[in-house]
Formats: sequence, C-alpha cells, structure tokens
Amino acid sequence: MRFLFFLFVAVVHLFSLGSGKAIYKSGVSQRTFQEIKEEIANYEDVAKAIINLAVYGKYQNRSYERLGLLVDTVGPRLSGSKNLEKAIQIMYQNLQQDGLENVHLEQVRIPHWERGEESAVMVVPRIHKLAILGLGGSIGTPPEGITAEVLVVASFVELQRRASEARGKIVVYNQPYTDYGKTVQYRERGAVEAAKVGAVASLIRSVASFSIYSPHTGHQGYQDGVPKIPTACITIEDAEMMSRMASRGDKIVIHLKMGAKTYPDTDSFNTVAEITGSKYPEEVVLVSGHLDSWDVGQGALDDGGGAFISWEALSLVKDLGLRPKRTLRLVLWTAEEQGGVGASQYYELHKANISKYSLVMEADSGTFLPTGLQFTGSDKARAIMKEVMSLLQPLNITKVFNDAEGTDINFWIQAGVPGLPMGNTQQPEISYLHH
Ligand SMILES: *[C@@H]1O[C@H](CO)[C@@H](O)[C@H](O)[C@H]1NC(C)=O
Ligand SMILES: *[C@@H]1O[C@H](CO)[C@@H](O)[C@H](O)[C@H]1NC(C)=O
Ligand SMILES: *[C@@H]1O[C@H](CO)[C@@H](O)[C@H](O)[C@H]1NC(C)=O
Ligand SMILES: [Zn+2]
Repeated sequence: MRFLFFLFVAVVHLFSLGSGKAIYKSGVSQRTFQEIKEEIANYEDVAKAIINLAVYGKYQNRSYERLGLLVDTVGPRLSGSKNLEKAIQIMYQNLQQDGLENVHLEQVRIPHWERGEESAVMVVPRIHKLAILGLGGSIGTPPEGITAEVLVVASFVELQRRASEARGKIVVYNQPYTDYGKTVQYRERGAVEAAKVGAVASLIRSVASFSIYSPHTGHQGYQDGVPKIPTACITIEDAEMMSRMASRGDKIVIHLKMGAKTYPDTDSFNTVAEITGSKYPEEVVLVSGHLDSWDVGQGALDDGGGAFISWEALSLVKDLGLRPKRTLRLVLWTAEEQGGVGASQYYELHKANISKYSLVMEADSGTFLPTGLQFTGSDKARAIMKEVMSLLQPLNITKVFNDAEGTDINFWIQAGVPGLPMGNTQQPEISYLHH
C-alpha cells in the first residue's frame, strides 16, 4: 500500500504535466519523441520529491491510516446499502477538508440486493454443513429450501455432455483454477448454464488458487429467457470432496436455503474531486478506484486500497504545491461489484468529451508492492510511458506491461483512450479478490 500510491501519483502527475494526448494518436503529433523524452527527464526532481514525501516523509502512512479509519468506522459497503451511502458522504467531506477542487457527487442508479440468511447442508451420504456465500443478485430459495441430488461437473463442456443428467438437480461446479479471468466465467455464467439444462440450483467452487475453507462471493449474471435459479459459492475443499464422492459413485443430496432478495434500484453517487489544470483545464487525466464492496468483509483491499491511493495521488500533488497542466480528476466509483454500474453511467454522461480524456487509470487489483504498470495504448504512447516509468528507477518499479483492462475504465479503453490500471506482479496470488 505505502509503496503503491506514490508510484501512482508520480506517473499520473507527470502525464498530466507533460506529454499531451496528441502524442497518443499517430500522425497528430507536433513534437518529436526526442523533445518529449527531454521534457519527461526534466521531471526527475519532481518525481523524487513525490517519492520522498510518500515513502520516506511525513505522509508515508497517511493513505493506510485514512483507509483504516473509513473501513473500521463504516465497514462493508454493499451496493444499495446505507453503509455505502454513509461512506460516500464521509468521502465527500474528506475530499473537501483535504482542500481539493470541484468536489462533487454525480448521481447514478444502482442495484439493491441483500443476501439474507443462507445455509447448505449435505444430507447424503453423510450430514455435513457446507460453508456457502450466495452470489450477488441471486434469487432466494422457497422458505423451506430446496433439497435435491447433486451433479458434479468439472467444466461447462462436461455439463453439456451430461446435460440429460442435470434435470431437477443441484449442479456443483468443481472447475480447476487456471487464472482469474478464465475461471471467473464459472461464477459469472454457472447459474445460467445449469438452468439451461434444467438444474434447480448451482453451487460454484470459489474462484481462488488456494483456500482455508473460505467461500468467495462475487458477481453473477442471469440471462433473459433462461430461468433464474438460486446460486452460491462453496469452498474448494467441499467442491473437491463432492467430486471425489461422485467419482466413487456415491449419491450426494444437498439441502439449500437462501433468503436473498432483490429490491428496486436506488440512488447513489460517483464521488469526484479535482486539481484543475493550469494550461489545459478542460483536458482530463482520470484516476480512480471503487468505494463499494461486498457485504461480507470490510472492503479494505477491494477496493478501499485502490480508492485511497487514488485520493492520495491528488493529495500529494496538492501538498507539494504542484499544479499540473491538465486537470487531475479523482473518481470514486459506486457499484463496481455489480458490474461497473457507476462507471458505466459516468461514461454515458461524459463520453461526449472523450477527446479531452488523455489517460484513464484505475487501481483495483490489490495494493501490493508493484514491479510496474499495465498499459493499453498505441506504440508511441507506450514508448512515452516507458520514459515516464524510468523516473521511478529510484524505486526499481519501471516495467510497462501489456493488455491493461479494468471493469471501471474499460468503457474508455475500448473507445481508444489510453488506459493504465495498476499491475501487481510481485504478488502472484491476487485471485482472492471478490470481483
Ligand atoms: C509510519 O508507520 C511506521 C510503522 O508503524 C512507523 O515506524 C513510522 O514512524 C510511521 N511514520 C510516520 C511519519 O508517522
Ligand atoms: C465537457 O467539457 C466541457 C469543458 O470542460 C464542460 O464545460 C462540460 O461540462 C463537459 N461536459 C460533460 C458532460 O462532462
Ligand atoms: C528490481 O526488480 C527486479 C524485478 O522487477 C528484481 O529482479 C531485482 O532484484 C530488483 N533490484 C533491486 C536492486 O531491488
Ligand atoms: Zn474491485
């Protein structure tokens, strides 16, 4: 965490001070790469000042302490909850008290789902209480629950092959973990695929590379025209056990009860603050993280850390008395966990100004010690990014990785704006984040 925010700020700040958006679009550049390179090199002292203040100076713990206060005070911040709106109001005040500019809230409509009471018990071949967490947006079971035989599959392909066995059963997915992006498809589409072949519920092995008997919740989506069935995640241990039992030919029966409910959509806000640009105030470098979380943790890592290092980026620039040429805009998204809901509405509202967005950044893959940044943009922009990152040599964090993407900034990246989510490549196991 401490290591991350200065990195973030240094890069953002330099982008915002220096090389404008024209350079990203081939052919429009008025400046040679050599000129840009020299300008970037001129920021060496600025980069060092930011690094010193953030890593060694009096603000070395600030972001952590600010975040600790919020998560300890408010707790979880599920979309549609009072906690989330309380956190938004606190952040609105925090950003004003911090002396940032143009602090305001932008209204959006977000989903409101509550998990209620939930339980699952394996009743055959022996009694065993399963640890479960309902998946976001799942329907509940009837009050008396569902009791049904289990069909264990290891993949969607196996489910298709055994489709005739699925009717009336609870499908248990025991998909192996490969990488988050691939394996999370089972959580996202598991209920829909099971319902298509007539299952009455689905239980999905938590999308994680290791486990201490902890189920992981997260987003799942129903599909129009496919019956909605209750769906929850189970632990890796229980998924493996039921897979072993099934392969021995044992019959497995589960009793599942879920009190989940979806309420009408409700009002919420994206929280915005800025440091206005001195020369091109209408041009924007956007830094962001999401303020909402799931309901079963404090949301400190996902994504309190990302939201707070984004805030810290602006704080440090302000504290050093620096004023970028372009506007640095902080956005704390709402309802990311429900599928980038706040970010999607922000994009719809602001896309008319897309030509003014120089760079969009998001921190939402954990706040660990990074080795570099991910980047999506033209080859020219990448070359410039590498120059910018060379300013972080004092920290040995200079790599520029490919294929940047992030739920909240993909709208902009797909429309051609250079994108830069945080990469955390020294921490290989980030799969326990509940996206
Ligand atoms: C930051 O926290 C560390 C560890 O708790 C402590 O040793 C250090 O003095 C703190 N720094 C500041 C500037 O408060
Ligand atoms: C677009 O940018 C202009 C100039 O900065 C600003 O006045 C206007 O409010 C922006 N519109 C939106 C929808 O953000
Ligand atoms: C710098 O980081 C690389 C990994 O990116 C590592 O292999 C190397 O040992 C580090 N060097 C120092 C001096 O920390
Ligand atoms: Zn997240």
